[in-house]
Amino acid sequence: MTQTVDRPSSGAQGGDGTAITACAWAYFGGGLVPFAEANVSIATHALNYGTAVFEGIRAYRQDDGGLAVLLVREHYQRLLRNGRLLRAAVPESVDDLVELTVELLRRHGTAEDIYIRPLLYKSAHSLRLQLTGLDDRISIYAFPMGGYLDTGGLRVSVSAWQRVNDNAIPARGKVTGSYVNACMAVEDAHTGGFGETVLLTADGHVAEASSANVFAVRDGEIVTPPLSDDVLPGITRSAVITLARDAGYTVHERSMDRTELYLADELFFTGTGAQVAPVASVDGRTIGEGVGSVTTDLQTRYFAAVRGSDPHYAAWLTRVAL
Ligand SMILES: Cc1ncc(COP(=O)(O)O)c(C=O)c1O
Repeated sequence: MTQTVDRPSSGAQGGDGTAITACAWAYFGGGLVPFAEANVSIATHALNYGTAVFEGIRAYRQDDGGLAVLLVREHYQRLLRNGRLLRAAVPESVDDLVELTVELLRRHGTAEDIYIRPLLYKSAHSLRLQLTGLDDRISIYAFPMGGYLDTGGLRVSVSAWQRVNDNAIPARGKVTGSYVNACMAVEDAHTGGFGETVLLTADGHVAEASSANVFAVRDGEIVTPPLSDDVLPGITRSAVITLARDAGYTVHERSMDRTELYLADELFFTGTGAQVAPVASVDGRTIGEGVGSVTTDLQTRYFAAVRGSDPHYAAWLTRVAL
């Protein structure tokens, strides 16, 4: 289970989440239980209809050998806020969820890179297509995970599948059911020999990748689609905008045309899973000189922040006492 980190100031180390070996404990049914006991019935509303919202959070081994959870409060604030879309009511507060997560990792007991998956779901055994009057629950499990996407230069396509729009299933909601949209798009990308894909909005603007926000660099300035273009308000997106502005870069949040992807000097994705992942080509067109200097700079700054080696961003990290 122990994962050693050769390059501490780099991306997460470990498997890519394809086959999960979960940490021994999970939060389920209001308490910490062995992972093997954290199971739901096949009659669960969320399993049948995708009526859940979720989060993905990372904990990173720190350069000093400790463990810290990244931007954990922000993730739980987003989870509980998104729960309002599903009219969910749960007793847990943000503080409770942070505490539970830290306890779960403390019990795991190893300072390795870990991915944490909270889920707020309609737990009622019900066939009814409604949101109120159904019980809601939160579950949390965790497992050691390294990079989710290649951070050395991705081959990307523009998907023929449109991003789910705000009047269908809001992308900002991180609703589990809407990830069928992402699965369809990634499946086709993989079939076509690509590593990842970018989805467009109904009116043809760049939305986001299957599980990451998109950034382009043109003439030294950074552009990313606005939150109103059917994107998830990524916590990494926001962190990277902060890092970029602190480093003196200009960042524009504005709608992007598809061809801006092809003509960018640099392109990269951000996400808890993706971290800062450079894009090498889109639909077979090489981006600028491949992995560019702005992307590399931001990737380095991001890894320094998440590994605790840049004290300026210490507030992003919640320590786990192992
Ligand atoms: C669709 C989508 N976009 C963007 C992101 C990135 O969001 P965050 O940086 O909050 O992880 C995610 C989650 O990882 C996602 O599922």
